[in-house]
Amino acid sequence: MWFTAVHGSQHSGTPAADLAEVAHLRRTLSVSGRRAAPPAPDPVRRSSEKKTKPMTADIATAPTPLTLDRLAALTAEVAEEVRRGLHEIRFDAENRWSVRLHADDHTDVWLISWTPDQSTRLHDHAGSLGALTVVAGELVERYWAGRLRERTLADGGGGRFPLGHVHDVVNASGAPAVSVHAYSPPLTAMHYYEVGGDGALRRTDSVLTTDPEPGAPTLDGVPAREGVR
Ligand SMILES: [Fe+2]
Repeated sequence: MWFTAVHGSQHSGTPAADLAEVAHLRRTLSVSGRRAAPPAPDPVRRSSEKKTKPMTADIATAPTPLTLDRLAALTAEVAEEVRRGLHEIRFDAENRWSVRLHADDHTDVWLISWTPDQSTRLHDHAGSLGALTVVAGELVERYWAGRLRERTLADGGGGRFPLGHVHDVVNASGAPAVSVHAYSPPLTAMHYYEVGGDGALRRTDSVLTTDPEPGAPTLDGVPAREGVR
């Protein structure tokens, strides 16, 4: 594993502690000292799992030949590559760091790092299914199920995101975290949401993006229209 802390000295928290945690992660994840290997060959087709879990289309959920099970198996597989030190990881306390490890017509796979308190906003993945596996550390997922619910995803754990899954992910721990994410079809857009004072979920904005870490837009300065609801 090849960890690099970026902008660590500018983190508003305790940079020395963060760097110590990064060093701890290096030890925990069997640091190899090697630089990152080139992106892995097509992980969708190389797994022996396809013998038992064919890439059966789930046409009820998305226009993709991959199922949520297959996506989750893929993120678990790539997470193991990360643990083996095959991919470089960086940490950036100012802007959440991510890198695309793989892309083909049906799937893209991302490696994302989280310093303490880094988070997304409430969002969905538009027309893409998604899955994630936590490689190191701990993440909290807040997801919409009629109201906001919360679950903790720890090392080796993860989540599967069907169409319409609205969630926010945050590193609420005091230590850095690392996760692998996959989307199918490859991510092309994200929608952002907020929970109103009435407890209802409301879409606030959308972006066309192939990056799961875009700068989330805001509606600041956009006047509200009276009498819509
Ligand atoms: Fe997400």
